Amino acid sequence: MSVLIKGGRVITAADDYVADIFVENERISLIGESLDLAADTVIDASGRYVLPGAVDPHTHLDMPFGGTTTIDDVESGQRAAARGGTTTHVDFCIQAPGTSFADALADWKGKAEGKQLIDMGYHIAVTDLKDGGSLEELASLPDQGITSYKLFMAYKGALMVDDETLFKTMEVAAETGALVMVHAENGDAIDVLVKKALAEGHTEPVWHARTRPPETEGEATNRAIQLARVAGCALYVVHVSCREAVEPILIAREKGWDVWGETCTQYFFVDESFLELPDFEGAKYVYTPPPRDKANQNVLWDAVRRDTLSAISTDHCAFTWSEQKAMGRDDFSKIPNGGPGLENRLHMIHHFGVREGRIGLNRMVELLCTNPAKLFGLYPRKGTIAVGSDADIVIFDPEKRHLITAGNQQSRSDYNLYEGTEVAGDVETVLLRGNVIVDFGEVVGRPGIGQFVRRARFGERLSNSKSSVSVG
Ligand code: URP
Ligand code: ZN
Ligand code: ZN
Repeated sequence: MSVLIKGGRVITAADDYVADIFVENERISLIGESLDLAADTVIDASGRYVLPGAVDPHTHLDMPFGGTTTIDDVESGQRAAARGGTTTHVDFCIQAPGTSFADALADWKGKAEGKQLIDMGYHIAVTDLKDGGSLEELASLPDQGITSYKLFMAYKGALMVDDETLFKTMEVAAETGALVMVHAENGDAIDVLVKKALAEGHTEPVWHARTRPPETEGEATNRAIQLARVAGCALYVVHVSCREAVEPILIAREKGWDVWGETCTQYFFVDESFLELPDFEGAKYVYTPPPRDKANQNVLWDAVRRDTLSAISTDHCAFTWSEQKAMGRDDFSKIPNGGPGLENRLHMIHHFGVREGRIGLNRMVELLCTNPAKLFGLYPRKGTIAVGSDADIVIFDPEKRHLITAGNQQSRSDYNLYEGTEVAGDVETVLLRGNVIVDFGEVVGRPGIGQFVRRARFGERLSNSKSSVSVG
């Protein structure tokens, strides 16, 4: 099957030029001017941007969490991703305490079976090294293409690990070349603050933020950075939300340490005041770390401009407001933590980042596509437009208006964090390895087309050979 994309403005992290792209056997085989080639499908991309399929390194699909399970499974979550121009994501496979990593992977791959519309990989979330997975088993995972270990430094009594588990995992990563990811908050201190707030009768959603002050994120970020330095591993700090966490990352990076950070779309747009919306509407914005005060939004734009933070993810962890969030109507600590976002990352960052002059187009591609692909061992198969890369391509109309609303979204959540926002710029067509999965804004791909991608180790490049892809 061949595809010819004609006359689009090709934008990568480095380049910006008008060209035709020829796709054969799922890969980009030729890029040139006025290509005169016969193709099974010809797409006119004139006046449009031709972007690499976006890569989301932080999602939670079909995840049991907070006494319920996220409302988006692999099928609905990946429909949302595709509609928003994301063609690859890396989801968290969570080790249930007392079980092996192999069991966890079998469970999560089983949940994805037959449902995949886009390509995906897994990070392994380590929760138990005493009665569950062993250090030896952890060390074997990169050989299976699972090349990142995630640890939660918060959610005491649930996913949180102690510093011993964190440090031992870091030592394994230093040996195997895996990237360590941390959810950096001081879970012990937060637990004390939550119990105190509830004892004083504070039950409303805004207490989610008041019991997780930015210093608890800053402290844990710095602790993780220093421990990673001792262990000698590379570190990636997820969902950075505030100055207190940006600063230790900046200091480490200025020293040349292998420390990286991401923020998520919502931290640029939602602030703490949203949690105070009446009639329990604030619960829609209960995710962790919480929305911060508005001043942090400029801190984060500066951080992504200067490469203190190198990626923007979604942390898509969707629940319904009417039923699932309602579990915490009388107690903010029982509101499942998380929000939807997979569908609108490109919309929001293009409109408010690029069009409003905060970042350039190349930097947008770097933050949403190329850097996540490089950091998580997917590059150059994913994250760029180049001969030999997978033909994961987004044709994006920068002028088309799009109204963001739960009423037209693919996610099964009953709300949208950016409800009522009208943006300029929308995804028109999406190709996954040369297959059209979104056509004029309609999701047309069939579940089952997506594949599991075995990722390269941190700092290594994914080979272009077909053997690095397996279905399942
Ligand atoms: O509130 C959030 N972010 N839920 C998902 C789990 C996590 O901490 O990333
Ligand atoms: Zn987290
Ligand atoms: Zn998350």
